[in-house]
Amino acid sequence: MLFRKDAYIAGAWVSGKRRFRVDDPATGETIAEVPDLGAAETEAAIAAAHEAFPAWAGELAETRSALLMRWHDALMARADDVATLMTRECGKPLAESKGEVAYAASFLKWFAEEGRRAYGRTIPTTVSSRRYVVTRAPIGVAAAITPWNFPAAMIARKAGPALAAGCTLVVKPPHQTSLTALALMQLAEEAGLPQGVMNMVTTSDAQAVGAALCDSERVRKLSFTGSTAVGKSLAALSAGTMKRVSMELGGNAPALVFADCDLDVAVREVAIAKFRNSGQTCVCVNRVLVEDSIHDAFVEAFSAHVAAMKVGPGLEDGVQIGPLIDDKAMEKVTRLVQSAKDAGAQVVVGGEKHSAGARFYQPTVISGVSQDMAIAQEEIFGPVAPIIRFRDEAEALALANATPYGLAAYAFTQSLARAWRVSEKLAFGMVSLNDGILSTAVAPFGGVKDSGLGREGGGEGLDEYLDVKFTSFGGI
Ligand code: SIN
Repeated sequence: MLFRKDAYIAGAWVSGKRRFRVDDPATGETIAEVPDLGAAETEAAIAAAHEAFPAWAGELAETRSALLMRWHDALMARADDVATLMTRECGKPLAESKGEVAYAASFLKWFAEEGRRAYGRTIPTTVSSRRYVVTRAPIGVAAAITPWNFPAAMIARKAGPALAAGCTLVVKPPHQTSLTALALMQLAEEAGLPQGVMNMVTTSDAQAVGAALCDSERVRKLSFTGSTAVGKSLAALSAGTMKRVSMELGGNAPALVFADCDLDVAVREVAIAKFRNSGQTCVCVNRVLVEDSIHDAFVEAFSAHVAAMKVGPGLEDGVQIGPLIDDKAMEKVTRLVQSAKDAGAQVVVGGEKHSAGARFYQPTVISGVSQDMAIAQEEIFGPVAPIIRFRDEAEALALANATPYGLAAYAFTQSLARAWRVSEKLAFGMVSLNDGILSTAVAPFGGVKDSGLGREGGGEGLDEYLDVKFTSFGGI
């Protein structure tokens, strides 16, 4: 039952007239065909969510919370199956897919709890016959456009707070990972989701469905995770209906490795932050900045670590690096590595396609990179670590901040004073010190500048789905 191949609108599984293929990026083999829906079906999903909204918003927070907990439990009970499906369609190594399922479930649990604490407040009055009250109400129908690199967690990170707040939802999953999305939908249905509360529109025409969601007056909130270019165009389209948007967009994360770091920790954690999901996350390290005096020692230890990584299909035992998602991703990684070489950088490890298959790239370390090279300016989204030298803290910060992006940054130092200074001066929405992983359901995830607007996770994640209402009681 988890292997659903139909979309879900108004509490029914919908097969549609046309279908598109979902492929295994490791082999190119077709796994299944799912409905290729368009603007008309999107309108039907919005209408279903609109109809379901008053009853869902009127439920007790406790009732919505219980549904999210049942969804969480159902997902954890089928964690291995969902993880296998995820690895098949996005290539992520199985251990990482299992980790992602637990990460996805943690959002459902966190927002089941947070939804019960959507508190308002009272304000001391300024007129003795009046009383001032602030309440928070669900925003209405929400739309979620999610990415392929976290096929389950990004749906849960948006659906969790939306449903907990009392919003109803239309989800457009990415075409590459429709099957994991539909498995989540199936589990939500099993958990007792009322008709129309959450709908899922599968499509290969992201533009048509995205435009229908943005143009609709009934959709009051859009949450998008994906590229900065697409995010900007969705935000512009959404302006026509003045809907609220949250945008989790691209990044260009620096890792600052200072001479006073613990070298072993820095090597291990930079590798984790760089090679998670084969380098295909928005918070993956994109530039490794290393202080002059430890540069050679770091490059040697880091390169040895990277050279030992196992590459192969994600379902194979012990694999750490899976395939890239598609041919376009392969072309981008190949182009960026070639242009760095042409500009004088040196490949220390890797630097070529991998023999495991058409979409596999060798885990790669490149030294002698400078900030003006394309590889330091564009989001690589692949298993390639460019290394840039710096002289001192001021130069490291200048290099780190020399990007229009501002999602995540990492720094490695054993000096408490430096950790504070650097964290304050990094122009990023998230900073991780001495650690390669900063993602958690309990903290706000999001960026500044071209990396987007709004936050997901933490208490802030719920606020994104609530409108603030001020009521002044007169004549008291
Ligand atoms: C992303 O890459 O979009 C999300 C990464 C995360 O949640 O850790």
